[in-house]
Amino acid sequence: MTVLVFLDSAFPDGRPADAGVPQLMINDLGVTRGDGIFESLLAVDGVPRKPGAHLDRMASSAQLLDLALPPRDAWERAIATALALHTEASAAGTGSAARAAVKLVVTRGVEGAGTPTAWVQVTAAPDASRQRTEGIKVLLLDRGYDSLAAARAPWLLLGAKTLSYAVNMAALRYVRANGADDAIFTSSDGKVLEGPTSTVVLARERNGVRTLLTPERKSGILAGTTQDALFRAAEAAGWELGYGPLVPEDLFAADGVWLASSIRLLVPVRSIDGRELPFSEALNTELTKLADAAL
Ligand SMILES: Cc1ncc(COP(=O)(O)O)c(C=O)c1O
Repeated sequence: MTVLVFLDSAFPDGRPADAGVPQLMINDLGVTRGDGIFESLLAVDGVPRKPGAHLDRMASSAQLLDLALPPRDAWERAIATALALHTEASAAGTGSAARAAVKLVVTRGVEGAGTPTAWVQVTAAPDASRQRTEGIKVLLLDRGYDSLAAARAPWLLLGAKTLSYAVNMAALRYVRANGADDAIFTSSDGKVLEGPTSTVVLARERNGVRTLLTPERKSGILAGTTQDALFRAAEAAGWELGYGPLVPEDLFAADGVWLASSIRLLVPVRSIDGRELPFSEALNTELTKLADAAL
C-alpha cells in the first residue's frame, strides 16, 4: 500500500492522490532527465524520525541543483497528512504502519512550466532486521572520480541526493551478481567514499580510546543523517570522533565496519572483497542502541 500526497499551494495540508493510477506528466523533467532530488526517512508508529535533518539536507541538495523548493512548513504538513493517511489505511487492515518509509521527491517540474513537482509518498518499510543482526558482504567499487572532484566540478552534483540514482542501482546489481550484498565506493585516488545508499562508519580502539570514524564529506559524499545522529550520541557516551580521510586498509584494520542509513539503520559489514572483518556482537548492539536512542 502506497500513500501519495502532492504539495500543492491550493491545498495547505497537501493534496492526497491515488498512487495506483498515473499521476505525472510524461514531460516532467524528473522523468525525462532525472532532474530533481529526494529524501528517504523512517517513521515509527506514525512519527517521522529526524525530519529536520532530512529537510535541511533537501535544502542543501536543492541549492546544489539551483532548484526551487516548496516552503518547509508545506513539507511538514504534507508529511503529517501522508503519515496520518498511512496509519488510517493500516488500521483498516491493508498493511502495517509500525515502520514506514517516507519519501520526499521534488523535480524541476513539467518542461517549460517553471514550477517544481513535489510529493510525499509513504509505504511500509522493508524488514532489514536480518541484515542488522547477521551483517552483509561488501565489494569495493571504483566510482571513477577522484576525492577532489566535488570541489573542482560542482556540476557533477556529488553530495546532492539527486533523482539520478541509476548508477547507484547499477552498483547494487553488480555486487549482487558477484555474490555480495552491498558496495562501498572508492575514489580513483584510493579513498573510501560511501555505499550506494549508505554512509560508511568504522569503530576502532587504540590505547583505550574508542573512536568512530567516517569518510570526509568534502570527498563528494552525501552527508548522512543516520551517521550524524549516531556520532552525536556516541560523543555524549564518551567516544572520540574522526572524519577521514580513510583508505581501504583502515576498514580492514578497524574493530568493526557498518553501513548507516535511515531506513535500514546500522548494518555490520562482515567481509569486504571476500576478506573477513572483525565482528563483535556486543559492539554491534552498543552502536545500534546508541543510534536508536539518538533517533
Ligand atoms: C549515497 C548515500 N549515502 C548515504 C546515505 C545515508 O543517508 P541517511 O543516513 O541520511 O539515510 C544515503 C541514503 O539513502 C545515500 O543514498
